[in-house]
Amino acid sequence: MQWKLILINVLVISVVIWLAGVSVKDFACLLVGQYHLVGEDKSRFFDSTMQFYLLRASLLAIVVASVIHYFFINRILVPLQKLVESTRLMTEGNYPKPLPVLSPDEIGRLTRDFNHLVFTLKKTEESRKQMLSDISHELRTPLTNLKGYLEALSSGILQGDQTLYHMLYQESIHLTELVEELHQLTIWEARKMKPLSFEKVDVQEFMENCLQNFKLELQNKEMKVHVSMTPETVWMDKDGMKQVLNNLLKNAIQYDVGRKLTVTGKSIDKKYIITITNIGQPIPEEMQPRIFEPFFRVDPSRQRHTGGSGLGLAIVKEIVEQHGGNVGLHSNKNEHSFWFSIQKVESAFDCHEAESRCV
Ligand SMILES: Nc1ncnc2c1ncn2[C@@H]1O[C@H](COP(=O)(O)OP(=O)(O)OP(=O)(O)O)[C@@H](O)[C@H]1O
Ligand SMILES: [Mg+2]
Repeated sequence: MQWKLILINVLVISVVIWLAGVSVKDFACLLVGQYHLVGEDKSRFFDSTMQFYLLRASLLAIVVASVIHYFFINRILVPLQKLVESTRLMTEGNYPKPLPVLSPDEIGRLTRDFNHLVFTLKKTEESRKQMLSDISHELRTPLTNLKGYLEALSSGILQGDQTLYHMLYQESIHLTELVEELHQLTIWEARKMKPLSFEKVDVQEFMENCLQNFKLELQNKEMKVHVSMTPETVWMDKDGMKQVLNNLLKNAIQYDVGRKLTVTGKSIDKKYIITITNIGQPIPEEMQPRIFEPFFRVDPSRQRHTGGSGLGLAIVKEIVEQHGGNVGLHSNKNEHSFWFSIQKVESAFDCHEAESRCV
């Protein structure tokens, strides 16, 4: 490729120089001949000298142009060759090291985008592997338990009683919930491709309705609820947002030890921020950035006992991000505030989203 380009360019340069040289020489000879400025001998001498100098100048021009051209071509082709090599490595299933970005031009941008693509693909592959290993790990324990007990019961080694059946029933519920939550996460991840059904919704009213579903649980745990939300109309996919609030409220009740639930909502620029606060067991600072990861639990042994799968917050994050928002946790000792942002109706979001996304 490199030599082909150089050869083509040398040919083009030669033709141009030859044409320019011949034209200059012919014109000079024409002038000399036309005006009979010198004698025939001198005219011939002039011709040959002119030819010699033109030939020398042409050769020099070709050599200099080729050398300069070689360095320029190299600057373009070397990064391209590296890109070709890295792409080949990727087709073989490897992830090449990031390539150096040598210039700010198109080649530099291509290299930067290529590096980003490799990084994203690598991360996706790693999280897919991690997810598979987490799922098998999560399923193995309850399934082994169930298998062991059912084997012992069916062969008569163990006599069943109410407590044992209840324990087996709980284990099966845990499995069903885990599979259901995994299904939800997969559905929401797959919906990235499809547009959500956005609607304009009165956020206060929506929150009241969601809280109604937890009335009994709040009463049972004798929790006081304090709601303070500025009125606002927001864009949302109602099913998705209902799931977000359900997961956050369920957590706030399940992990609460302070019998107090606070829900706040306020506008900040084009966004509306909803925060759900409760008092719970402290969440160590180093664990906080990982809290929205699938299967992450602060205390795995305790949560496995209470049936949590560690998928609730991962589902929240997925849905909120598909709404164009963010999620986060502010934790102060044992006071935990889980928050998320959502787009207000007057924001630019209603213009840039296609009309088909809105009902
Ligand atoms: N409001 C909260 N207060 C204290 N800890 C919380 C709160 N919400 C979540 N956590 C901690 O974060 C972990 C992850 O929560 P997440 O909702 O993702 O999973 P989970 O509740 O364990 O299981 P599930 O999939 O059933 O929701 C929980 O196990 C818990 O330790
Ligand atoms: Mg949960």
